[in-house]
Amino acid sequence: MQNQVILIDHPLIQHKLTLMRRVETSTATFRMLIKEISLLLAYEVTRDLPLKYESIKTPIAPMNAPILAPDKKLVIVSIQRAGQGLLEGMLELMPSARVGHIGLYRDPKTLIPVEYYFKVPSDIDQRDVLIVDPMLATGNTAIAAVERLKSTNPLSIKFICLLAAPEGIQHFTEIHPDVPIYTTSIDDYLDEHGYIVPGLGDAGDRLFGTR
Ligand code: URA
Repeated sequence: MQNQVILIDHPLIQHKLTLMRRVETSTATFRMLIKEISLLLAYEVTRDLPLKYESIKTPIAPMNAPILAPDKKLVIVSIQRAGQGLLEGMLELMPSARVGHIGLYRDPKTLIPVEYYFKVPSDIDQRDVLIVDPMLATGNTAIAAVERLKSTNPLSIKFICLLAAPEGIQHFTEIHPDVPIYTTSIDDYLDEHGYIVPGLGDAGDRLFGTR
C-alpha cells in the first residue's frame, strides 16, 4: 500500500488546505482555494509525463530542447459533483486535456454508489486517465468509478483527491492495487455517517454553497 499512496505535503498546499477546512471559510474562498490547490496538484501528478527532444533556435543559439511527447494524451475524469472543483484548476494547467464526467451519488443509508451519468472521450483507450474527487471516504465511490473506467481500457489510471480516510485507502488499495492515490492529507477516521474526520465537511456543499 505504501507505494500506492502518494502524499503531497508541499507547504503551500498544506497551508491552503487548512484555510479550506476552517468552518468559517466562505463558499467563494473555498472555491478559490480548491482551484489553487488543484493547480499545484497538477504539477505533482504529471511529474512522470514523458519528454521528447526537439531542435529549436533561441535568439542566441540552436539547441535540443525538451517538449512534452505529443502522443501522451490525458483525460481528466471528474466525479460529480465535487470533482468539478479540482477539474477547473487542472484544466488551466493542461488546457488540451480531454474531460470525462461520471455521476455517482452515495445512497445515504447504504453509502453504496449509484451511477446516474457517464460520458468520456471515445478515444479513452489511447489516453491516460486522471480521476478527480476531493474526498476518498469509504472508497466505495472511487472504487466504482475506477471499475467503470477500467471497462473502457484506458492506458493508465491515477486517482487524485484532497483528503483520504485510512478506511477508504485500505478498501481502495485492496480492490485496485494497480491504481495510485494522490492525496494532500490522510485524515484520522470516518464517522458513522461516512464523513472524514476532521475533514472539511461535505465538499460539494462547501463548493457550491448548497447548505
Ligand atoms: N464526502 C464529503 O464531501 N465529505 C466527507 O467527509 C466524506 C465524503
